[in-house]
Amino acid sequence: MTDITTGKTAKLDIEGKVIELPIVEGTEQERGVDISNLRAATGYITLDDGYGNTGSCQSSVTFIDGDKGILRYRGIPIEELAEKSTFVETAYLLIYGHLPTKAEFQRFSQLLTQNENLHEDMKYHFEGFPSTAHPMAILSSMINASGCFYPGLLEQTRRDEFAVHAARLISQVRTIAAFSYRKSRGMPIIYPKPTYKYTANFLHMLFSDVYQDYELRPEVVHALDLIFVLHADHEQNCSTSTVRMVASAQANLFASTAAGVCALWGPLHGGANQAVIEMLSDIHRSGDNGSRFIAAAKEKGSGKKLMGFGHRVYKNYDPRARIIKKACDKLLAALNINDPLLGIAKRLEEGALSDPYFVERKLYPNVDFYSGIIMRALNIPTEMFTVLFAIGRMPGWIAHFKEIQDDTKARIYRPRQIYVGPPLNHYVPIEERRVG
Ligand code: SDX
Repeated sequence: MTDITTGKTAKLDIEGKVIELPIVEGTEQERGVDISNLRAATGYITLDDGYGNTGSCQSSVTFIDGDKGILRYRGIPIEELAEKSTFVETAYLLIYGHLPTKAEFQRFSQLLTQNENLHEDMKYHFEGFPSTAHPMAILSSMINASGCFYPGLLEQTRRDEFAVHAARLISQVRTIAAFSYRKSRGMPIIYPKPTYKYTANFLHMLFSDVYQDYELRPEVVHALDLIFVLHADHEQNCSTSTVRMVASAQANLFASTAAGVCALWGPLHGGANQAVIEMLSDIHRSGDNGSRFIAAAKEKGSGKKLMGFGHRVYKNYDPRARIIKKACDKLLAALNINDPLLGIAKRLEEGALSDPYFVERKLYPNVDFYSGIIMRALNIPTEMFTVLFAIGRMPGWIAHFKEIQDDTKARIYRPRQIYVGPPLNHYVPIEERRVG
């Protein structure tokens, strides 16, 4: 734990009793009030629906400034990593806290290759899913299933095995995803090739045939690798907080990240990339130029939201959306694809960013708004979009798991509540009960 105290305090006057709470400050001068002793000193807790104002921890993995649209992994701006790094190198940076030396990178790449295959008995698990099973359901269950083949995983004390388990998870999440896609289409599974690099191998496992390898076009491999880099971490988002919650109970790495997959699946979170394409396709089919949809998205009762727009932290343009939007134009031009959904997305963005409803609420495109356009161009089926988000986010989840595991003072996460249920009540035998 880093000493983030400032020596300054905030005064809180509760019914005439004044207490002083320490003010803390992070690396980028973001400030907080440490309320760790609030309940002991006053009997009061705080209430913060959705944790919009509550820091659950101190962390050194990722920094976001939502007002300025800044995102940095271990201090390095996302724009530099997007331009100069690769997903595997970025994964190492997030997990171990520094860019790898050549030797470290080689060792990490070797571990990914050595651990890219699932235990052969895992293939029987795939038999148990209906072909209509959502790949996120398969992914979350298969991560835990795969963990069963590594007894060492459950011995939390074996820190030296962490590197192997982390590499195994990053490598296998890709294999599980590819196998689940092939199974859902009734196609034979394609095993990873040890000579292929991470992202190329994933495309190979998805799209090669038994008799002919998929043609790995450099612009396609680069576009997908960029998607993974941009999704690799995002500080205390819903799924990462879920991973930390489960990790705080000292559950193992596979169990913690499987829980993260479940949280990410929600359409308000990682599931939004699938929802954006479904929204754009509906608008395209209806012949709407987007204005009808925007009008509906502003109406509370419509049940519609402009998916891919808005963010709890970014009150400015999500820097990842800006990078992905540029990558869309570049990839579609390289592949000579004219996707009408891109035009609709751009018109929606233009309309929303000039509409007082969105401007007043500081709603901008987020990472999910354009990412689906790239995945469509790569022939990734829509139901796999959130799985690819999970593949990208895996190193971030592992980095946060490690941050908790390495913290000798880590405590189990256990928020409080304000109870609003019935006052003291007593048991009534069934024959004496009246309709409620
Ligand atoms: C991700 O946290 C992360 O870092 C997540 C993520 C990551 O990398 O891990 O960045 C990935 O999950 C991105 C977000 C993907 N989700 C979507 O695109 C779904 C659509 N967006 C919204 O559901 C919403 O913007 C959230 C969930 C993203 C944020 O919700 P908040 O912070 O709880 O904000 P809110 O719902 O309280 O909205 C504030 C106002 C409300 O209107 P009023 O009550 O003030 O009148 O803005 C409105 C909302 O109705 N609003 C929208 C809207 N988003 C917010 N109105 C229409 N369309 C939208 N998309």
